[in-house]
Amino acid sequence: MTLDLFGDATPDQPAPAAPQSVVNKVQALRRQLQQWAHEYYVLDTPTVPDGEYDQVFQQLQALEGAYPALVTPDSPTQRVIGAVLAGLKPVRHVVPMLSIRTETDNEASGAQAFDARIRRELELGAMAQPVEYVAEPKFDGLAMSLRYESGKLVHAVTRGDGEVGEDVTHNIRTIRQIPWVLEAVDVPQVLEVRGEVYMRRADFLKLNERQAAAGGKQFANPRNAAAGSVRQLDSSIAMQRPLSFFAYGVGEMTPSEQGGPAWVTHYDMLQQLKKWGFPVAAQVRIAYGASELIAFHSELGVQRATLPYEIDGVVYKVNSLALQRQLGFVTREPRWAVAHKYPAQEMATVMEGIDVQVGRTGKLTPVARLAPVSVGGVTVTNATLHNLFETRKKRVRVGDMVVVRRAGDVIPEVVGRVPGERPAYVANFKMPSQCPICGSEVVREKGEANHRCSGGLFCPAQRKEALLHFAARRAMDIEGLGSKLVDQLIDGGVVRTLPDLYRLGLSGLASLDRMAEKSAQNVLDALEKSKSTTLNRFLFGLGIRNVGEATAKDLARHFGLLDAIMEASVEQLMQVRDVGPIVAASIHTFFAQPHNREVVEQLRACGVHWEEGAPAEKAPQILAGKTVVLTGTLPTMGRDQAKELLEAAGAKVSGSVSKKTSYVVAGAEAGSKLTKAQELGVPVLDEDSLLALLQGKDV
Ligand code: IVH
Repeated sequence: MTLDLFGDATPDQPAPAAPQSVVNKVQALRRQLQQWAHEYYVLDTPTVPDGEYDQVFQQLQALEGAYPALVTPDSPTQRVIGAVLAGLKPVRHVVPMLSIRTETDNEASGAQAFDARIRRELELGAMAQPVEYVAEPKFDGLAMSLRYESGKLVHAVTRGDGEVGEDVTHNIRTIRQIPWVLEAVDVPQVLEVRGEVYMRRADFLKLNERQAAAGGKQFANPRNAAAGSVRQLDSSIAMQRPLSFFAYGVGEMTPSEQGGPAWVTHYDMLQQLKKWGFPVAAQVRIAYGASELIAFHSELGVQRATLPYEIDGVVYKVNSLALQRQLGFVTREPRWAVAHKYPAQEMATVMEGIDVQVGRTGKLTPVARLAPVSVGGVTVTNATLHNLFETRKKRVRVGDMVVVRRAGDVIPEVVGRVPGERPAYVANFKMPSQCPICGSEVVREKGEANHRCSGGLFCPAQRKEALLHFAARRAMDIEGLGSKLVDQLIDGGVVRTLPDLYRLGLSGLASLDRMAEKSAQNVLDALEKSKSTTLNRFLFGLGIRNVGEATAKDLARHFGLLDAIMEASVEQLMQVRDVGPIVAASIHTFFAQPHNREVVEQLRACGVHWEEGAPAEKAPQILAGKTVVLTGTLPTMGRDQAKELLEAAGAKVSGSVSKKTSYVVAGAEAGSKLTKAQELGVPVLDEDSLLALLQGKDV
């Protein structure tokens, strides 16, 4: 005997007619199996053990085997079907399948904008009641229209372009959650149930495991897996791809002779669909006004990572069907619904460990090592925990189930832990006291969240950054030593430490990629020139944390000798103008590291030198306590020079104008800073008045 796909069974031989008692029994068994399947697949609450289900299933199979004429395409025994289609048949939707307008703003403004639009369209005044909405998850699968005629599933069609979709009935019939027959008396003559076909996360993972074992294609995410399965020509393939369904609407509907359902609200309609056997998400809620929509959006956002299926947002719909009709459509989108997407993708997975990475600036970042998880189509195995305090705040420990978020192109981060039992005692994460890369002491400054490696120049992780900083114009000013060259030097192992720079030879440099002999010679010349420098440039170039150009100058001026700075105590360092405990501590820590001292000695040995002397006689601090802002181009003085002169006279040079600014020095093409000074009544000086001011004259 052969069965065609959905048509009637055609027995090869005349079969014995079944006695009425058998017909009744067969019908009873089917109803029983359908109910159990509904409880199991749709309600997620099995009421009988699998064995009992199988037993009844086999009874039905036996009876159908004995009386093949009793086999109907909607019998539970016929779910396992297999026939390969030549192609998917196009089907025109009588009621088009629309899309919805999407808001991706933050949670408040998306919902508020929608609510405001609805209130405007409905001409509701400010005093009117809040609008009644239904808020639903936005399932991440593919839209499907299920057409029932006289309660029988006649076809299942994809959305396609909204007007014409593809007939995928053969595959949709493999979805156990979708009823083949609607038995209730109040079922409409024609009913199109609209909803989303999707794949549960657990089913997706199992499928990918099976695919991997069989050497088959891996799916990037549950949505792709669902879409790929639905469009298979061979339904035996779809059969092995566990799909699920959620109903969220109705397309064409012709009431039954009894008058059919007279729904007043979208919510009623969903409840009715549920009674007829369709899965409706438990999260669906009625919400009043924008504030409740916002609350729904954020609550579901929290639940999102632990839901058994993926959602990419929420959908808000005006609940009253009469108001929906009144609001109508704009082109292909209803005015009464909006999708509000989540900005980021989140998934839960197990945190298997915490590694510590050292960044280019020496910052230590705890990074969660994760059981691989697909977050919005990308497999994630690491996610940042930012710093020790964030890690503590999130209360995550190794072995925990954690939520991972990916937003756009930014690196994935651990958002928090999924509440639940911890298997056993796990120690809280601690930052290492030594850099995992170079072994230098790890420090954290007061009030700072980040831990840092104090290795500086010595730490391989920080070498490139350190080299670039050293070569910068305001530091050693080594022309031609830019990031491309630094990458090559470090990656090729040619340069490891700063002194290595001064050991470079012409042949070594010229052998690098894209480095002609001429430019190699230029770099060598620039290096040679840089050897003759000033103490403040050299200090700044060392890249000591918190030691910027100004502090380097102050230090040089105050101590005069490098050795004096290297030997200074924190207290002595704090005597320098503008050096507080934090800056003093970082200078002290830097020079306490033997390898940093070694770098300094080697640089000196390579010929790097500056004029040393007694602490410079301080210029009279005639501008002490004054704050000056420079803007525009001065006729003769460079901005750096003006800054240097002002600072030497005790003034602070700032970048922005406020009421506290003492003077604004403006040159040609001064812009907003000048305007602001004029608005605030801050005195504005030109170059001549600046020189006068520096000479102690009144301006
Ligand atoms: S209602 C007229 N509700 O989102 C409104 N759509 O562009 C028709 N989707 O591909 C759609 N969850 O498949 C609606 N709860 C939900 C939904 C939902 C997911 C999908 C739908 C369509 C897209 C809308």
